[in-house]
Amino acid sequence: MFSHAIVRTPGRNFAQGLTTADLGEPDYYTAILQHRAYCKALEACGLQLTVLDPDPDHPDSVFVEDTAVLAGSRAVLTRPGAPSRAGEVDTIAGTLAAFFEDVCRIEAPGTLDGGDICEADGHYFIGISARTNRAGAEQLAGFLKAKGFTASFIEVTGIPGILHLKSGISYLGDGHLAAVQPFAGLPDFQPFNLVRVPEEESYAANSIRVNDTVLMPWGYPKMQAALEALGLPVIALPMDEFEKMDGGLSCLSLRF
Ligand code: GLY
Repeated sequence: MFSHAIVRTPGRNFAQGLTTADLGEPDYYTAILQHRAYCKALEACGLQLTVLDPDPDHPDSVFVEDTAVLAGSRAVLTRPGAPSRAGEVDTIAGTLAAFFEDVCRIEAPGTLDGGDICEADGHYFIGISARTNRAGAEQLAGFLKAKGFTASFIEVTGIPGILHLKSGISYLGDGHLAAVQPFAGLPDFQPFNLVRVPEEESYAANSIRVNDTVLMPWGYPKMQAALEALGLPVIALPMDEFEKMDGGLSCLSLRF
């Protein structure tokens, strides 16, 4: 069960962040409204929020999930693979230190984005991507193993439309794992009850289980129906402005 989440309000320069999406420029005011709705949904799931101020030096810093991996009492600060995002870690480290007694850090030459990490009942799938390299993945696996967790690596590089591992998979609890087609056939995921995300709804593969509820992006009826058929309560949230900046629903919070 989660009791807390850390989020960061989008900055006015949010549109200057990194993106490969060809969906137009995000609207700042709409992004603020969508972010508020996201925060309210987390609160409705029972979480107490720490809301950080916008960081004017880092337009992508609303995507706080990329700055840390949380594992029990340990917080692993990442070393983001995009140079423009490197400074985001120092601006959140103090907040994490207030909650986690054991804080360690990915060091060069390792790079790692939190969006490449998918935790499933104590096992951590670590995506090797354009942002997370093998050195970073191996450092993280070592930090996790020291705390009794297991880890394995999933190749993400070169899969069209997939920035991070969690752009294509989500662990939804109770053995349910949502996956887009390129991941659904991997042997690593066969032990799970696979929720196959239709190609036209691939953005919805990035959903999160928060206590008893799944938060998913709004506008993906097949995925929503599949989750409801599993008996999972769903809150669907408008995410368009974040999608324009290559951001998914999980990226907007660190949950613990
Ligand atoms: N805009 C999110 C990212 O590229 O990291």
